[in-house]
Amino acid sequence: MYDNNPTLVGIKKEIDETKQGQVFFQEKPANEAVEGGNGKHFYIESYGCAMNFSDSEIVASILSDVGYRPTRQLEMADLILVNTCSIREKAEETVRQRLNVFSKIKRRKPGTMVGVLGCMAERLKAKFLEEEKLVDLVIGPDAYRDLPNLVAGAEEGEKGINVLLSREETYADISPMRLDDNGVTAFISIMRGCDNMCSFCVVPFTRGRERSRDCFSIVSEARDLYERGYREVTLLGQNVDSYKWQNPENEEVVNFAQLLEMVALVHPDLRIRFSTSHPKDITDEVLHTMARYENICKYIHLPVQSGNSVVLERMNRTYDREWYMDRVRAIYRIIPECAISSDIIAGFCGEQEHEHQETVSMVDWANYSMSYMFFYSERPGTLAARKYPDDVPLEVKKRRLQEIVDKQSEVSLRHNKADLGKTFKVLIEGDSKKSNKDFKGRNSQNKMIIFPKIDGLKPGDYIWVKVTSVTSATLMGEVSFP
Ligand code: 5AD
Ligand code: SF4
Repeated sequence: MYDNNPTLVGIKKEIDETKQGQVFFQEKPANEAVEGGNGKHFYIESYGCAMNFSDSEIVASILSDVGYRPTRQLEMADLILVNTCSIREKAEETVRQRLNVFSKIKRRKPGTMVGVLGCMAERLKAKFLEEEKLVDLVIGPDAYRDLPNLVAGAEEGEKGINVLLSREETYADISPMRLDDNGVTAFISIMRGCDNMCSFCVVPFTRGRERSRDCFSIVSEARDLYERGYREVTLLGQNVDSYKWQNPENEEVVNFAQLLEMVALVHPDLRIRFSTSHPKDITDEVLHTMARYENICKYIHLPVQSGNSVVLERMNRTYDREWYMDRVRAIYRIIPECAISSDIIAGFCGEQEHEHQETVSMVDWANYSMSYMFFYSERPGTLAARKYPDDVPLEVKKRRLQEIVDKQSEVSLRHNKADLGKTFKVLIEGDSKKSNKDFKGRNSQNKMIIFPKIDGLKPGDYIWVKVTSVTSATLMGEVSFP
């Protein structure tokens, strides 16, 4: 019934299953002579979180500087890259299957190079290069600048590897090549790595220590995007609330609330979103800043992981149920119209039935508009793998996950029904998936709204839409004025 993929209920913005492994681009026709190009093409597939997708845009920019051009056709690629994720076992399995496909292409077309990027690189470098001989290049998330060198070396038959993690690298000066491009919404990476040690999580090991990017480079990237017609940016980090950048010139420190304000001031028509917030770090200052600016979206992704304090302690989340509830109360007090979403793990080590029930009740109490729900998957090297037995049987994990999913479906439907008859300002992103007679767009709360097109409207426009019907995942409406 379930594999270990995220189960999604409600409106989703983050990278989900439908996008996993997506290849993207403004395609250049085969063999088109591109100014400054070296005639070679790269193909890139990305798995995992939005951060990984954003990294692929940095990689694309680095490769394009040395003459490589993107292609969507595997057969046309001289360099095949896969940007990998280690978060759950399933993600790693998927990548392995893809590498087998790529190695067949390599056999058919000798000279094609295959590279593994991202979170699996550090963990599995030896395996990929030595044992399985599937790949020519293995490059960790902090080593992308080295890619051109490694590619050149690999062309000479060397195995290229760089998985060094850095305490400084933020790629602040690299202007990402926008790949999965609707021309309206874009990601901006504001920090890298993670210093939290959630016991279930592999990220601190794959992405290294937390570091924040120069706030001025973030603002200028946002301004540049606005000037190129984009109308929404999502500020990305593993834990955005601990963003902290010290200006070397005057020693002044910029925190996340201040950064949010700086980006909000770029233009009132540029919407700001951010992800992910950590319940231990989200401050009232951030909430007040959100309330002050209309263009900062009223939506917070605030993963609870578990609704039980004892489990949270074992997860090393450094907050308990009460603390989390206090933060949720603060959000609804300061920003009454805010939507909150969550990440939830079912069946973590030692989880008892009554502890699980507290997670189910949290979904209801916090009134999440949606959640990403998973069952626990032990990751080698993590604190939990070393300290706690993975002792909840798989059928129990799946049953608990199903209970959480069912509760979230009910709550999402209730949340969406409360929007019936309301009119929202929507940013049009493009045609709806099902019909080119309809547009899709999001409201501030990150809910997707589908509505019939009317003349004169185009992606990137704001429009008022009245909600006329809902499901647990989507709102349907019609153009209206408040
Ligand atoms: N097993 C299951 N889910 C996990 N997540 C992180 N690590 C694991 C794991 N080992 C989930 C968390 C996190 C989201 C990105 O993935 O809910 O917030
Ligand atoms: Fe996957 Fe985590 Fe790496 Fe993102 S940071 S790609 S979710 S392991």
